[in-house]
Amino acid sequence: MTQADFGVVGMAVMGRNLALNVESRGYTVAIFNRSRSKTDDVMAKHSEKKLIPSFKIEDFVKSIATPRRIMLMVQAGAGTDAVINQLIPLLDKGDILIDGGNTFFKDTIARNARLADSGINFIGTGVSGGELGALQGPSLMPGGQKEAYELVRPIFEQIAAKAEQDGKPCVTFCGENGAGHYVKMVHNGIEYGDEELIDETYNIMRNVLGISVDEMADIFKEWNKGELDSYLIEITADILTRKDDLGSGKPIVDMILDRGNNKGTGRWSSGDALEVQVPQSVITEAVYARYISMMKEERVAASKVLNGPSEKVELPEDKKALIEKIRQALYFSKIMSYAQGFEQLRFAAKQYDWDFDYGKLAQIWRAGCIIRAGFLQNITDAYDKKADLTNLLMDDYFKDIANKYQDSVREVVALAVKAGVPVPALSAAVTYFDSYRAEVLPANLLQAQRDYFGAHTYQRVDKPFDQAFHYTWYDEA
Ligand code: ATR
Repeated sequence: MTQADFGVVGMAVMGRNLALNVESRGYTVAIFNRSRSKTDDVMAKHSEKKLIPSFKIEDFVKSIATPRRIMLMVQAGAGTDAVINQLIPLLDKGDILIDGGNTFFKDTIARNARLADSGINFIGTGVSGGELGALQGPSLMPGGQKEAYELVRPIFEQIAAKAEQDGKPCVTFCGENGAGHYVKMVHNGIEYGDEELIDETYNIMRNVLGISVDEMADIFKEWNKGELDSYLIEITADILTRKDDLGSGKPIVDMILDRGNNKGTGRWSSGDALEVQVPQSVITEAVYARYISMMKEERVAASKVLNGPSEKVELPEDKKALIEKIRQALYFSKIMSYAQGFEQLRFAAKQYDWDFDYGKLAQIWRAGCIIRAGFLQNITDAYDKKADLTNLLMDDYFKDIANKYQDSVREVVALAVKAGVPVPALSAAVTYFDSYRAEVLPANLLQAQRDYFGAHTYQRVDKPFDQAFHYTWYDEA
């Protein structure tokens, strides 16, 4: 009997689409799901495909050629552990388990360590691009044992999205153990930041400039032709053209309740930025923006008692010029967000002992995933020029844009603040820029305070940094 080249556990939509993607590249794929109905459904719809269904996990394992390549597309956390526990006694040394779920990277590190002595390889991989990406070509971010990845690589390179610029597959080996899931986590954080920044510019155009939804759809369409060219801008323009499907005649955005949900990956990303001690303020503000949006009832009550600005904001006469400044503010802020995301990766590499190829990471996000955008090529180019770049802002392309657009972001943020329209991510972006470029920050006073109340000592501007000083602030006897 023919043995399968690849196995997929979990026939919910992501697993099913991924299995179909692998099959479409000429492979025979074994499939299994805890409950039979999902597998039956796949087979009913795709009876002609090279799929081998099993209804017992033992049969599933037997149906795959060794060394087995088995991808888990099951619920992250307990579901993944349950499937791993069932599979381990059935596997042979050299087999490769691949977790393609949205797993927290520390779980992947722990599973990798747990399996280290068993001879079973464990790859944790980020899979981005949603249902359609899984079917047609996702961006893949694998991490684990490099030798094991080499056995998976041909399949991953075939199923991954291909970048428009050079046809290269959107997959690269990210590093040991949890590196792939870490990269996916930062990718998701960046996605939060991108979305929030776009949403803030929409809010300014809508509620400060009074631009209609229809007109805004055209503006985003126009923006998508230039520096901001990206999937998220493209879908935003499309969304704004859509009318209510329940017949009110209004734009659908006006009928959607303003409570922004989340599945926790932005929180993971921000949480780990705190852990590795690197500022990730744009993404974190995007996470907070979702949290405060969820407090709908509180906000409605507050809106009745807390006042906005007492004076109406004065708009500059040239509306077109102001819209261009908003576009510049958005691009500037997006750059800050990515600068922070890549700094986080750099700090994480030190903390968790990984060796990221930053240019490649930007390269594999150019297609397949939600944050795909023309400008990722500029990030790849920046790291190609200087692999050990400390911060994206130190690259000529990004430095020039930041310097050129900074006045616009200041004007737009000031206008929004004066109008009482919240701009947490845009203002975090310009604040990050001003902090990063500050030769002197007020941490001198902070150190004095810490030394005053806790004798924490400080360094001096005129002495080597390894010397600690303490001031006699009061009679310490
Ligand atoms: P969805 O993607 O539809 O939201 P999910 O709850 O995340 O679904 O689960 C995705 C997959 O994980 C499903 O295939 C599910 O199997 P069932 O169809 O039998 O529910 C699988 N899954 C979740 N928990 C599991 C467990 N403990 N053991 C095995 N498979 C599990």
